[in-house]
Amino acid sequence: MNGTDGPVGPEHVLTVSRATKNFGGLMAVNDVSFALEKGEILGLIGPNGAGKTTMFDLVAGSQKPTSGSIAIHGHEVSGQSAWRRIGHGLGRTFQIPKPFPELSLIDNVMLARQGQAGEGVIANFLTPRKVAAEERRAREKARELIAFVTLSHLEDEPAKVLSGGQRKLLELARVLMADSSIVLLDEPAAGVNATLLEVIIERIREINRGGISFLLIEHNIDMVSRLCGRVLVMASGELLCEGRPDEVARDPRVIEAYLGGAA
Ligand SMILES: Nc1ncnc2c1ncn2[C@@H]1O[C@H](COP(=O)(O)OP(=O)(O)O)[C@@H](O)[C@H]1O
Ligand SMILES: [Mg+2]
Repeated sequence: MNGTDGPVGPEHVLTVSRATKNFGGLMAVNDVSFALEKGEILGLIGPNGAGKTTMFDLVAGSQKPTSGSIAIHGHEVSGQSAWRRIGHGLGRTFQIPKPFPELSLIDNVMLARQGQAGEGVIANFLTPRKVAAEERRAREKARELIAFVTLSHLEDEPAKVLSGGQRKLLELARVLMADSSIVLLDEPAAGVNATLLEVIIERIREINRGGISFLLIEHNIDMVSRLCGRVLVMASGELLCEGRPDEVARDPRVIEAYLGGAA
Protein backbone atom coordinates (compact mmCIF):
# COMPACT_ATOMS: atom_id res chain seq x y z
CA MET A 1 0.00 0.00 0.00
CA ASN A 2 2.59 2.57 -1.07
CA GLY A 3 1.67 6.16 -1.85
CA THR A 4 2.00 7.42 -5.39
CA ASP A 5 4.54 10.11 -4.53
CA GLY A 6 7.56 7.95 -3.74
CA PRO A 7 9.09 4.52 -4.15
CA VAL A 8 8.33 3.42 -0.57
CA GLY A 9 5.33 4.77 1.29
CA PRO A 10 4.36 4.27 4.94
CA GLU A 11 2.19 1.33 5.89
CA HIS A 12 -1.35 2.53 6.51
CA VAL A 13 -3.18 0.67 9.28
CA LEU A 14 -6.35 2.73 8.89
CA THR A 15 -7.59 4.48 5.74
CA VAL A 16 -10.64 6.73 5.66
CA SER A 17 -11.79 7.74 2.18
CA ARG A 18 -14.33 10.49 1.61
CA ALA A 19 -16.28 9.64 4.78
CA THR A 20 -19.53 11.54 5.15
CA LYS A 21 -22.18 11.41 7.90
CA ASN A 22 -25.37 13.34 7.51
CA PHE A 23 -27.76 13.54 10.51
CA GLY A 24 -31.02 14.67 8.93
CA GLY A 25 -29.39 17.47 6.95
CA LEU A 26 -26.60 18.25 9.43
CA MET A 27 -23.24 17.31 7.89
CA ALA A 28 -21.49 16.07 11.05
CA VAL A 29 -18.65 14.65 8.88
CA ASN A 30 -18.28 15.99 5.35
CA ASP A 31 -16.05 14.24 2.81
CA VAL A 32 -13.13 13.52 5.17
CA SER A 33 -10.13 11.46 3.98
CA PHE A 34 -6.97 10.57 5.90
CA ALA A 35 -4.71 7.64 6.70
CA LEU A 36 -3.12 6.53 9.96
CA GLU A 37 0.42 5.19 9.59
CA LYS A 38 1.68 2.15 11.44
CA GLY A 39 3.23 3.23 14.74
CA GLU A 40 1.93 6.79 14.49
CA ILE A 41 0.11 8.83 17.13
CA LEU A 42 -2.08 11.03 14.95
CA GLY A 43 -3.91 13.92 16.62
CA LEU A 44 -7.47 14.96 15.75
CA ILE A 45 -8.40 18.40 17.04
CA GLY A 46 -11.08 21.00 16.38
CA PRO A 47 -13.70 23.03 18.23
CA ASN A 48 -16.70 21.38 19.93
CA GLY A 49 -19.18 20.15 17.36
CA ALA A 50 -16.47 19.81 14.66
CA GLY A 51 -17.39 16.14 14.06
CA LYS A 52 -14.45 14.44 15.82
CA THR A 53 -16.45 11.95 17.89
CA THR A 54 -18.71 11.19 14.90
CA MET A 55 -15.53 10.45 12.91
CA PHE A 56 -14.56 7.95 15.64
CA ASP A 57 -18.07 6.45 15.51
CA LEU A 58 -17.69 5.89 11.76
CA VAL A 59 -14.29 4.24 12.18
CA ALA A 60 -15.40 2.09 15.13
CA GLY A 61 -18.70 1.13 13.51
CA SER A 62 -21.15 2.59 16.03
CA GLN A 63 -22.44 4.81 13.20
CA LYS A 64 -22.76 3.90 9.53
CA PRO A 65 -21.34 6.47 7.09
CA THR A 66 -23.81 8.09 4.69
CA SER A 67 -21.08 7.56 2.08
CA GLY A 68 -17.38 6.84 1.88
CA SER A 69 -15.24 3.92 2.92
CA ILE A 70 -13.07 2.82 5.84
CA ALA A 71 -10.33 0.19 5.72
CA ILE A 72 -8.59 -1.38 8.72
CA HIS A 73 -5.30 -3.13 7.92
CA GLY A 74 -6.43 -3.12 4.28
CA HIS A 75 -9.85 -4.71 5.00
CA GLU A 76 -12.86 -2.72 3.89
CA VAL A 77 -15.04 -2.55 7.04
CA SER A 78 -17.71 0.07 6.26
CA GLY A 79 -20.39 -2.62 6.12
CA GLN A 80 -19.16 -4.47 9.22
CA SER A 81 -20.41 -4.34 12.79
CA ALA A 82 -18.40 -2.77 15.61
CA TRP A 83 -17.71 -6.29 16.96
CA ARG A 84 -16.13 -7.39 13.70
CA ARG A 85 -13.90 -4.32 13.74
CA ILE A 86 -12.62 -5.20 17.22
CA GLY A 87 -11.62 -8.52 15.65
CA HIS A 88 -9.51 -6.56 13.13
CA GLY A 89 -7.60 -5.01 16.06
CA LEU A 90 -9.52 -1.77 16.45
CA GLY A 91 -10.04 -0.50 20.01
CA ARG A 92 -11.55 2.73 21.25
CA THR A 93 -12.04 4.64 24.47
CA PHE A 94 -14.98 6.96 25.06
CA GLN A 95 -15.14 10.68 25.77
CA ILE A 96 -17.19 9.72 28.84
CA PRO A 97 -16.02 6.28 30.07
CA LYS A 98 -18.81 3.96 31.17
CA PRO A 99 -17.32 1.12 33.23
CA PHE A 100 -19.67 -1.37 34.89
CA PRO A 101 -19.94 0.49 38.21
CA GLU A 102 -20.62 -2.48 40.51
CA LEU A 103 -17.98 -4.78 38.96
CA SER A 104 -14.37 -4.86 40.15
CA LEU A 105 -11.63 -3.35 38.04
CA ILE A 106 -10.40 -6.87 37.26
CA ASP A 107 -13.84 -7.94 36.02
CA ASN A 108 -14.23 -4.75 33.98
CA VAL A 109 -10.94 -5.51 32.21
CA MET A 110 -11.82 -9.23 31.82
CA LEU A 111 -15.06 -8.28 30.05
CA ALA A 112 -13.14 -6.32 27.42
CA ARG A 113 -11.60 -9.63 26.31
CA GLN A 114 -14.97 -11.34 26.12
CA GLY A 115 -16.06 -8.65 23.70
CA GLN A 116 -13.90 -10.28 21.03
CA ALA A 117 -15.86 -11.77 18.16
CA GLY A 118 -16.53 -15.47 18.46
CA GLU A 119 -14.79 -15.90 21.79
CA GLY A 120 -17.82 -17.13 23.71
CA VAL A 121 -18.80 -19.52 20.94
CA ILE A 122 -15.35 -21.08 20.81
CA ALA A 123 -15.20 -21.41 24.60
CA ASN A 124 -18.33 -23.59 24.48
CA PHE A 125 -16.37 -26.23 22.56
CA LEU A 126 -13.48 -26.37 25.00
CA THR A 127 -13.42 -28.75 27.94
CA PRO A 128 -14.20 -27.21 31.35
CA ARG A 129 -10.59 -27.62 32.43
CA LYS A 130 -9.33 -25.70 29.38
CA VAL A 131 -11.92 -23.01 30.03
CA ALA A 132 -10.72 -22.69 33.64
CA ALA A 133 -7.06 -22.47 32.55
CA GLU A 134 -7.96 -19.89 29.94
CA GLU A 135 -9.88 -17.92 32.59
CA ARG A 136 -6.85 -17.97 34.92
CA ARG A 137 -4.54 -16.71 32.17
CA ALA A 138 -6.96 -13.93 31.29
CA ARG A 139 -7.27 -12.93 34.95
CA GLU A 140 -3.48 -12.80 35.23
CA LYS A 141 -3.29 -10.65 32.10
CA ALA A 142 -6.02 -8.33 33.44
CA ARG A 143 -4.06 -7.99 36.70
CA GLU A 144 -0.85 -7.12 34.80
CA LEU A 145 -2.67 -4.50 32.73
CA ILE A 146 -4.20 -2.93 35.84
CA ALA A 147 -0.69 -2.73 37.32
CA PHE A 148 0.53 -1.16 34.06
CA VAL A 149 -2.02 1.66 34.45
CA THR A 150 -1.01 2.09 38.14
CA LEU A 151 -4.36 0.94 39.61
CA SER A 152 -3.26 -2.27 41.38
CA HIS A 153 -4.25 -0.94 44.79
CA LEU A 154 -7.87 -0.74 43.54
CA GLU A 155 -8.07 -3.94 41.46
CA ASP A 156 -10.76 -5.60 43.60
CA GLU A 157 -12.75 -2.42 44.21
CA PRO A 158 -15.92 -1.70 42.21
CA ALA A 159 -15.27 0.69 39.31
CA LYS A 160 -17.64 3.24 40.85
CA VAL A 161 -14.93 4.28 43.35
CA LEU A 162 -12.67 5.57 40.56
CA SER A 163 -12.07 9.25 39.85
CA GLY A 164 -12.56 10.57 36.30
CA GLY A 165 -8.85 10.26 35.57
CA GLN A 166 -8.67 6.73 36.97
CA ARG A 167 -11.61 5.75 34.71
CA LYS A 168 -9.58 6.91 31.72
CA LEU A 169 -6.72 4.67 32.88
CA LEU A 170 -9.10 1.73 33.31
CA GLU A 171 -10.22 2.27 29.71
CA LEU A 172 -6.62 2.02 28.53
CA ALA A 173 -6.29 -1.31 30.32
CA ARG A 174 -9.56 -2.52 28.71
CA VAL A 175 -8.40 -1.56 25.23
CA LEU A 176 -5.11 -3.45 25.78
CA MET A 177 -6.97 -6.52 27.04
CA ALA A 178 -8.68 -6.72 23.64
CA ASP A 179 -5.23 -6.87 21.94
CA SER A 180 -5.94 -3.77 19.87
CA SER A 181 -3.35 -2.73 17.29
CA ILE A 182 -5.13 0.55 16.51
CA VAL A 183 -6.54 2.59 19.38
CA LEU A 184 -8.90 5.56 19.14
CA LEU A 185 -8.70 7.77 22.22
CA ASP A 186 -11.52 10.31 22.70
CA GLU A 187 -10.31 13.12 24.99
CA PRO A 188 -8.21 10.99 27.37
CA ALA A 189 -7.09 14.11 29.29
CA ALA A 190 -10.53 15.67 29.87
CA GLY A 191 -11.20 16.07 33.60
CA VAL A 192 -7.88 14.43 34.52
CA ASN A 193 -5.62 16.01 37.17
CA ALA A 194 -2.03 16.94 36.31
CA THR A 195 -0.43 13.94 38.06
CA LEU A 196 -2.67 11.35 36.38
CA LEU A 197 -2.27 13.17 33.07
CA GLU A 198 1.48 12.49 33.20
CA VAL A 199 0.76 8.81 33.88
CA ILE A 200 -1.63 8.66 30.90
CA ILE A 201 0.88 10.38 28.56
CA GLU A 202 3.68 8.05 29.68
CA ARG A 203 1.50 4.96 29.27
CA ILE A 204 0.35 6.00 25.78
CA ARG A 205 4.02 6.47 24.82
CA GLU A 206 4.94 3.09 26.17
CA ILE A 207 2.05 1.31 24.42
CA ASN A 208 2.98 3.14 21.22
CA ARG A 209 6.62 1.97 21.51
CA GLY A 210 5.17 -1.55 21.48
CA GLY A 211 3.96 -0.84 17.91
CA ILE A 212 0.34 0.20 18.57
CA SER A 213 -0.97 3.10 16.45
CA PHE A 214 -3.19 5.81 17.93
CA LEU A 215 -5.72 8.34 16.75
CA LEU A 216 -6.06 10.90 19.53
CA ILE A 217 -8.88 13.42 19.98
CA GLU A 218 -7.76 15.95 22.55
CA HIS A 219 -8.31 19.60 23.50
CA ASN A 220 -5.21 19.68 25.70
CA ILE A 221 -2.79 21.10 23.12
CA ASP A 222 0.22 20.50 25.37
CA MET A 223 -0.58 16.79 25.39
CA VAL A 224 -1.14 16.78 21.62
CA SER A 225 2.19 18.55 21.03
CA ARG A 226 4.04 16.07 23.23
CA LEU A 227 2.52 12.94 21.71
CA CYS A 228 1.71 13.69 18.08
CA GLY A 229 4.03 14.31 15.13
CA ARG A 230 1.03 15.12 12.93
CA VAL A 231 -2.38 16.59 13.64
CA LEU A 232 -5.63 16.73 11.65
CA VAL A 233 -7.88 19.72 12.26
CA MET A 234 -11.64 19.40 11.75
CA ALA A 235 -14.20 22.21 11.78
CA SER A 236 -17.89 22.09 10.87
CA GLY A 237 -17.54 18.48 9.74
CA GLU A 238 -14.69 19.17 7.32
CA LEU A 239 -10.99 18.45 7.40
CA LEU A 240 -9.55 21.95 7.57
CA CYS A 241 -5.83 21.17 7.41
CA GLU A 242 -3.12 18.87 8.71
CA GLY A 243 0.45 19.33 9.83
CA ARG A 244 2.80 19.37 12.80
CA PRO A 245 1.16 20.60 16.03
CA ASP A 246 3.14 23.87 16.02
CA GLU A 247 2.26 24.47 12.34
CA VAL A 248 -1.49 23.99 12.71
CA ALA A 249 -1.59 26.00 15.95
CA ARG A 250 -0.55 29.14 14.05
CA ASP A 251 -2.57 28.44 10.89
CA PRO A 252 -5.00 31.38 10.46
CA ARG A 253 -7.81 28.98 9.35
CA VAL A 254 -7.42 27.01 12.56
CA ILE A 255 -7.37 30.11 14.75
CA GLU A 256 -10.50 31.39 13.00
CA ALA A 257 -12.29 28.04 13.42
CA TYR A 258 -11.61 28.05 17.16
CA LEU A 259 -12.69 31.68 17.56
CA GLY A 260 -15.85 30.95 15.54
CA GLY A 261 -16.53 27.86 17.64
CA ALA A 262 -16.17 29.80 20.88
CA ALA A 263 -18.61 32.52 19.76
N1 LIG B 1 -26.41 10.91 16.92
C1 LIG B 1 -26.49 12.17 16.47
N2 LIG B 1 -27.64 12.65 15.95
C2 LIG B 1 -27.73 13.90 15.49
N3 LIG B 1 -26.71 14.79 15.49
C3 LIG B 1 -25.54 14.38 16.01
C4 LIG B 1 -25.36 13.05 16.53
N4 LIG B 1 -24.07 12.93 16.98
C5 LIG B 1 -23.49 14.12 16.76
N5 LIG B 1 -24.36 15.00 16.18
C6 LIG B 1 -24.06 16.38 15.76
O1 LIG B 1 -22.96 16.31 14.89
C7 LIG B 1 -22.07 17.40 15.11
C8 LIG B 1 -20.69 16.88 15.45
O2 LIG B 1 -20.72 16.32 16.75
P1 LIG B 1 -19.50 15.54 17.38
O3 LIG B 1 -19.02 14.53 16.40
O4 LIG B 1 -19.89 15.05 18.71
O5 LIG B 1 -18.41 16.70 17.50
P2 LIG B 1 -17.08 16.82 18.39
O6 LIG B 1 -16.74 15.46 18.94
O7 LIG B 1 -16.04 17.36 17.44
O8 LIG B 1 -17.37 17.80 19.48
C9 LIG B 1 -22.68 18.24 16.22
O9 LIG B 1 -23.41 19.29 15.62
C10 LIG B 1 -23.59 17.26 16.91
O10 LIG B 1 -24.67 17.93 17.53
MG1 LIG C 1 -16.47 14.79 20.94
